[in-house]
Amino acid sequence: MADLIVGLQWGDEGKGKIVDLIAHNYDIVVRSQGGHNAGHTVVIGDKKYALHLMPSGVLNPNAVNVIANGVVVSPQKIIEEMEKFDDIEKRLFISNKATMLLEHHAQIDQARERLRGKNAIGTTGRGIGPAYADKISRTALRMEDLLDVDTAVKKLADYFEMNKGYFEYLGINIPSLDEMHKELQFYQSKLQNIIIDTTKYLWDNIDKNILLEGAQATLLDIDHGTYPYVTSSNTIASGALTGSGIPPKKLDKVIGIAKAYTTRVGNGPFVTEELSKEGDYIRQKGHEFGTTTGRERRCGWFDAVAAKYAVTLNSCDEVAIMKLDVLDGLEKVKVCVAYEKDNERIDYFTNQDVKPIYQTFDGWEHSEGVTRWEDLPKNAKDYILAIEEMIQTKIKYISTAPDRNKTIIR
Ligand code: GDP
Ligand code: IMO
Ligand code: MG
Repeated sequence: MADLIVGLQWGDEGKGKIVDLIAHNYDIVVRSQGGHNAGHTVVIGDKKYALHLMPSGVLNPNAVNVIANGVVVSPQKIIEEMEKFDDIEKRLFISNKATMLLEHHAQIDQARERLRGKNAIGTTGRGIGPAYADKISRTALRMEDLLDVDTAVKKLADYFEMNKGYFEYLGINIPSLDEMHKELQFYQSKLQNIIIDTTKYLWDNIDKNILLEGAQATLLDIDHGTYPYVTSSNTIASGALTGSGIPPKKLDKVIGIAKAYTTRVGNGPFVTEELSKEGDYIRQKGHEFGTTTGRERRCGWFDAVAAKYAVTLNSCDEVAIMKLDVLDGLEKVKVCVAYEKDNERIDYFTNQDVKPIYQTFDGWEHSEGVTRWEDLPKNAKDYILAIEEMIQTKIKYISTAPDRNKTIIR
């Protein structure tokens, strides 16, 4: 059976920390969508790892890691990440069906963002959208194409020929046949032994404990997020099934991850954004700068309407509330309980331009590093219990510092 970790906000909730925390319970950890736009941080003692394509189970030496069919894989990036871990070839598999993301995808992504100007999405510039666009257009290379480089080069040359005008328009150089050949040959030499049919591998091991590691998050979902300010994959629970081939009835527990407040990198609506000193306080205290791009994250209060929407879409069984410690020291803490537009109250998540209706809570001094529920300040407990009531889902984990051990398990 498989359990799933899924982000409930706009990403960077702390999914990496929770995957790492519970990875010892699992035999296999799977990434099923997204690509190296993800940046998942794992902190163990004084060591910090930033993982982009590699599943966060990699720090548990007993887990097998799978990059499944729904991921857009940059061979270059995964080779770079593999170099950081010993013996990784024995415990990493990449799906033959996964889409191959190449340098020109990143160039298209960046060129299109420049053309969009002030309407830019604020992508990570990694080429995620263009790679998924090629997948949907059925013109992408897949990882299995690395097993036959001559044919892959022909396909790639046809693709460039077909899109020549577009590349010219965007000012992107098309590589020569020789360059393509050398590049794909190099990827083949490094990856050919770990490219397998991961769907079959997961079916063969379905009686083991499998953990699906979501990337990005619910409000960035291509269908259910704040379109067009979203990523290009289905980030929600059902996307993890498409992206891995795990049959729906083999999905067991769904664990939603949310920060005790909200952040967003990139553009798009953000109802509870605080452009105030409280927003700055959260950014500084929470080190809210992107793991992948180093960009400043926009910060604001917890949005319980968005969180309720997310736990419903994902059918979450339990939730982890992360970074509670970042709110330490604030006199008052707010939670958005509904929206308002034209004097009307709205209780459902929306992409429209709405205003937040807040409930205000008294703050607390110290939750940092606390590992037992009883040791939390009363106001912090009241805050968590109120959110639990609002989202109608059990809050099982409360994280109070980056380290894997600094977690309350209720
Ligand atoms: P992910 O993309 O969901 O895996 O999250 P990121 O790794 O991009 O961002 C989460 C950041 O918060 C990382 O720098 C973590 O080390 C850090 N973090 C996780 N949990 C906590 C916590 O409880 N308290 C604090 N202060 N930092 C945390
Ligand atoms: P993790 O897995 C936060 C955001 C980008 C941008 C939008 C589209 O670490 O939570 P893309 O490059 O995917 O086309 O960008 O999505 N974004 C993320 N924001 N965390 C992420 O991943 C993100 N991956 C993409 O900032 O707004
Ligand atoms: Mg991240």
